Amino acid sequence: MNKIKNICCIGAGYVGGPTMAVMAKNCKDIVFNVVDANKERIDSWNHKNLSKLPIFEPGLEEIIRNTRNINLFFSTNINECISKADMIFISVNTPTKKTGLGAGKASDLKWVEACARQVASHSKNHTIVVEKSTLPVRTAEVIKKILNAANIKNENNLSFDVLSNPEFLAEGTAINDLENPDRVLIGGENEKAINSLIEIYKNWVPEKKIICTNIWSSELAKLTSNAFLAQRISSINSIGALCEATGADVREVARAIGTDSRIGSKFLDAGPGFGGSCFKKDILNLVYLAEYYGLNEVANFWEGVVKLNNWHQHRISQLVSRKLFGTVSGKKICILGFSFKANTNDTRESAAISICKDLIEEGSHLQIHDPKVKESQIEKDLGVKSLKNLTKTKNNSIYDTKGNWLKADNVYQACQGVDAIVVLTEWIEYSKINWKSIAKEVRFPTWVFDARSILNSNEVLGAGLNLWKIGYGFNNDNS
Ligand code: UDX
Ligand code: ADP
Repeated sequence: MNKIKNICCIGAGYVGGPTMAVMAKNCKDIVFNVVDANKERIDSWNHKNLSKLPIFEPGLEEIIRNTRNINLFFSTNINECISKADMIFISVNTPTKKTGLGAGKASDLKWVEACARQVASHSKNHTIVVEKSTLPVRTAEVIKKILNAANIKNENNLSFDVLSNPEFLAEGTAINDLENPDRVLIGGENEKAINSLIEIYKNWVPEKKIICTNIWSSELAKLTSNAFLAQRISSINSIGALCEATGADVREVARAIGTDSRIGSKFLDAGPGFGGSCFKKDILNLVYLAEYYGLNEVANFWEGVVKLNNWHQHRISQLVSRKLFGTVSGKKICILGFSFKANTNDTRESAAISICKDLIEEGSHLQIHDPKVKESQIEKDLGVKSLKNLTKTKNNSIYDTKGNWLKADNVYQACQGVDAIVVLTEWIEYSKINWKSIAKEVRFPTWVFDARSILNSNEVLGAGLNLWKIGYGFNNDNS
């Protein structure tokens, strides 16, 4: 086993950045080069002001402060960093394909393929390539084929080993997940290569938490893990809809079933539907795989989890409309939270996107607040330009039925003149809102929809507002 001295990570995103930062913190004798084709992103990673890092993740700034330009470097010199590395992590994006074979379900591997080709062209000697992105099963085979082709062609005695080492970090808690993982999964064939990676993790992870499997099991375990978690959320949200209709409280149901040690209490929080870059994509990958192997019942079973999630999000926008006397057209609605969960600025697949799109399409004027998501990102996600400032909407009347949105600087501004307030992300500041002051800003009768169960019912109702908790119902007006 050769001791690893130089690691290159291709892809400086939500996975590559935090993962390499934690590795650099715990492996002081290894140099880590994180490279990305996106210069703007690399410039942000190198920004003097740590609040300008391209991703927001609690605890990340502190680690970057202590490792950057010591043994952790961010650059766009991809080829040079590849050539110096004895281990390369591939951490690039693998979104769902929009067109062509497998469109809508299979992952687009063009970025992974490009990476493998770059690695094949610029590596020197023996290199261990580790797939870190969420990749559909048998991607390592694609990487291997490209690398082996380079092997045959090249006279420099190149050789490669490919390992799968899926990431299990959840955004918002990424640093803790990386520092104290439940397990580290390594899939591979070559024992020497596997041991090289184990040696790195052993710097901070107890050895008993490191699980080794064959490469295919490792890849499939990653998809399955996310599919199981997402399945729990669709399950509890489906029961939440039943609770709302029948008068049960989904939180009580979740507590009651979660105490069964066979079920467990995690991932049973009803909400606006799961988002994030992984769950939907990974399930769709699983569906694609099952269909490919003719296992249609398996494919339908997992596709149901995504379908329920989509239905649930539309159900929320319809609920808002129903409570506002059957129409949101021309009405102002405040949206609190746009990221797919708290403590991240990531909006990929956020439930807020489809809910806001539905409301805008129906003609409402949204006033959106989020402490970390930028206006330009919301604009991209909604595909509709922002109204830029509040004064422009002052003259909005009930007859102005063309939907639009603007970003508010604070919660109070977001609530000005609205008919409804919809809490979609569990940002801590939303649980501390002073509802008596908010009541002065809104248009009565006002509905507050709490999709995250974070509001104090007595305070909301005490301020004279109607309240609807997703998965629970409850209000002081049974309309
Ligand atoms: C997920 C996996 O947890 C992680 O292991 C994997 O590596 C990447 O995908 P992430 O998407 O970052 O992580 O966040 P996660 O905390 O899993 O939440 C995903 C979505 O489910 C969020 O929209 C969240 O709000 C929602 N969720 C989660 C619920 O609605 N209820 C819950 O009980 C838990
Ligand atoms: P993830 O959540 O999986 O980390 P991101 O989209 O946040 O996904 O990050 C992936 C990063 O990979 C992006 O910054 C993108 O610019 C980068 N990337 C994609 N393909 C390549 C490539 N061939 N070479 C270098 N960087 C790449």
